[in-house]
Amino acid sequence: MDKFVINGGKFLSGKVTIGGAKNASLALMPATILASGISRLSNTPDLRDVTTMRRLLETMGIEISSAEQTMTINTASINSFEAPYEHVKKMRASIYVLGPLVARFGKAKVSLPGGCAWGPRPVNLHVEGIRRLGAEIELEAGYIIAKAKRLHGARVLFDISSVGATGNVMMAAVLAKGTTLIENAAQEPEIVQLSEFLITMGAKIHGVGTGRLEIEGVDELHSADITTIPDRIEAGTFLIAGAIAGKRGGSIRLEKCNPHHIGALIIKLEDAGATVKTGTDWVELSPMEKIAPINATTAIYPGFPTDMQAQWIALMSLAGGTSIVTDTVYFDRFMHVPELVRLGANITVKENIATVVGVRSLAGAKVMSTDLRASASLVLAGLVAEGTTEVLRVYHIDRGYESMEKKLQALGADIRREQGEEF
Ligand code: UD1
Repeated sequence: MDKFVINGGKFLSGKVTIGGAKNASLALMPATILASGISRLSNTPDLRDVTTMRRLLETMGIEISSAEQTMTINTASINSFEAPYEHVKKMRASIYVLGPLVARFGKAKVSLPGGCAWGPRPVNLHVEGIRRLGAEIELEAGYIIAKAKRLHGARVLFDISSVGATGNVMMAAVLAKGTTLIENAAQEPEIVQLSEFLITMGAKIHGVGTGRLEIEGVDELHSADITTIPDRIEAGTFLIAGAIAGKRGGSIRLEKCNPHHIGALIIKLEDAGATVKTGTDWVELSPMEKIAPINATTAIYPGFPTDMQAQWIALMSLAGGTSIVTDTVYFDRFMHVPELVRLGANITVKENIATVVGVRSLAGAKVMSTDLRASASLVLAGLVAEGTTEVLRVYHIDRGYESMEKKLQALGADIRREQGEEF
């Protein structure tokens, strides 16, 4: 298992090009199941999660090739309607094949994902939503078995706004007979992009980007092409790399990103003392004299993303005072805290609230990656910790950051990938 070895305290500045959004790709790829033919997804990032989704689609007989960030998916040869446990356990987003399979083929067998390193992550909203569209769903030996002659339109109200369930039910509803109304739908940019892709495929969706989606089912969709939106979490993580460098940083410029998608983070960074300039597809952060302690509470889009909570805590651990960081989306998502404490941070967690008392400096140590965003926060802390930080198990980072160490090296960081210890 690879690890990152970081010698902290190097001057960081320069440009970073942001890649395609992982969470958009993970929805667009299974959406291609809804039509027979060849779809091209450009700006697809080269990430482990994308490879996992690719392997899953390939086990169903779908042919996929990739060149220069464009993934070509030919669904004409699909011959299996099953998502086996070995794939789903690696990545929960595998559940995205459920809606398209039932909608187009009237059958699907998808393994239940199980928990996550930081707690249970249910899929009840996916199952209940697709059930409301008329699918018969049974749970058998750890699998969701769904059947339907043809799905029909229905009113679906999500108790909780869920990105995955909105995407799954939307993909099921586009081929259902009649009109589906999804209330309290997720409004994340990745769901907007999925809607736009489905519309390009011939779907009829109204209310895109709002919490109320109205979908008129059609008999058939056709394959289509799309360019994946930039990854807002990768963008946010690199902005924090600039911010956390403080006086030891020059300006950091992100290119090929969408500043609107990281509006909440930019506001928080400004509150913390940053100067941030934006253009249509770029963001520039000037060096920060000092980091002010700023509270953050995660929320659904356009609120502060839960996927940036760990990185924000890393930044706040060096702020000039105490801040409170609350995660209202995932209550248990604080696996990074004990590891940041090993680097000298002063953080306590009670329920879903972290109290971060800023310290003057962090000190390098060996720390363990536990999940994707937790690992990113450890790398950020390692960039400024005195001495050497080893971040073990960086395969978590490779799930969602393309060549993170190379992009950081280009900014001046002393970070390298090495073969790590086995556990
Ligand atoms: C997606 C993102 C993930 C991000 C999360 C929240 C992908 C591939 N992943 O995950 O990076 O952290 O959105 O922005 O896009 N819930 C239920 N029942 C369900 C589904 C969800 O109770 O059936 C709850 C979850 O436990 C959580 C909340 O709903 O508390 C939001 O989760 P959701 O938006 O579904 O997250 P994902 O789609 O899994």
